[in-house]
Amino acid sequence: MATTFWTRRHVLSLADFTPGEYDTILQTAASFQEVLSTRTKKVPALQGLVVANLFFEPSTRTRSSFELAAKRLSADTLNFAPGTSSMTKGETILDTAKTYLAMGADMMVIRHRDAGVPQAIAFEMDRLGVRVGVLNAGDGQHEHPSQALLDLFTITSLLNFEYPRLGLLADKKIAIVGDILHSRVARSNIWSLTASGAQVHLAGPPTLLPQLFAEMGAGRLGELVLHWDIEPALKNADFVMTLRLQRERMTANLLPSLREYHQRYGITRDRLKLCKPDIKVLHPGPVNRGVEISSDLMDDPQFSLISQQVTSGVAVRMALLYLMGGGKN
Ligand code: NCD
Repeated sequence: MATTFWTRRHVLSLADFTPGEYDTILQTAASFQEVLSTRTKKVPALQGLVVANLFFEPSTRTRSSFELAAKRLSADTLNFAPGTSSMTKGETILDTAKTYLAMGADMMVIRHRDAGVPQAIAFEMDRLGVRVGVLNAGDGQHEHPSQALLDLFTITSLLNFEYPRLGLLADKKIAIVGDILHSRVARSNIWSLTASGAQVHLAGPPTLLPQLFAEMGAGRLGELVLHWDIEPALKNADFVMTLRLQRERMTANLLPSLREYHQRYGITRDRLKLCKPDIKVLHPGPVNRGVEISSDLMDDPQFSLISQQVTSGVAVRMALLYLMGGGKN
């Protein structure tokens, strides 16, 4: 394995991730992918540690993926669901986190509809002087680091299965299409992909892709280009990431109709002809079939990496928990 670069207690954002940290995660995830292909699928790396999943917002794949990752590392897991918790009796988020701390949680995986909640909990843990690692599993529109890392692992291990690394994307063109404004997945992916030196092209309607996103490209290794038409973003692209229209986060009428949106920005077989012949399509899920991507394309293994993304998610989250938990062999 390549040299390990890891000193972080918390993973809250990818904005300041270094190439060494990305490569450490990719290589560690590759080792765990191997573990997952064995019969036992488990290692004792985090035996005795407690991972608390605090999901204050609905989730299917991220929550299950973190739970499975913790179990494959032999950690004990605690799952919290706000609807059946003491929060319904008025307990605050910080007091909820402190309750899990008192039960011996070593790591907290946190999802919340408001940006900044994982940071606030991490800050409180540091203030208390306890060695608890906090992982942001999606906060509002801010960031979703583990999703961007599993996307990165999915595409770099497709390019080199044995040795996935950031530098493999240096000459690639990657289009991110759709509701960028409301997407924490897009923001985390912009950080990781521009760190690789890739050309990152964002495309979406002006109401969902404000000009201010261009600022995220300042000082990054890779180029960041914005388009309000989809065609120039797809032209000769190596990878396309589509995003869900996150209507639960829209506060105004930002779209004419779903049909018109699909006509202008939907990923279809016809549109993929603009891309490189071996184009691959990613989507973080959940998918609105027939809106951001045509339904048949989503299920076509020649183009779609969607189920690989879910599979990669477990290995990548094992890598994150393992490194945050002290990386014991
Ligand atoms: C995303 C999320 O929750 O941010 N999904 C996920 O974690 N796989 C994207 C979305 O909600 O559209």
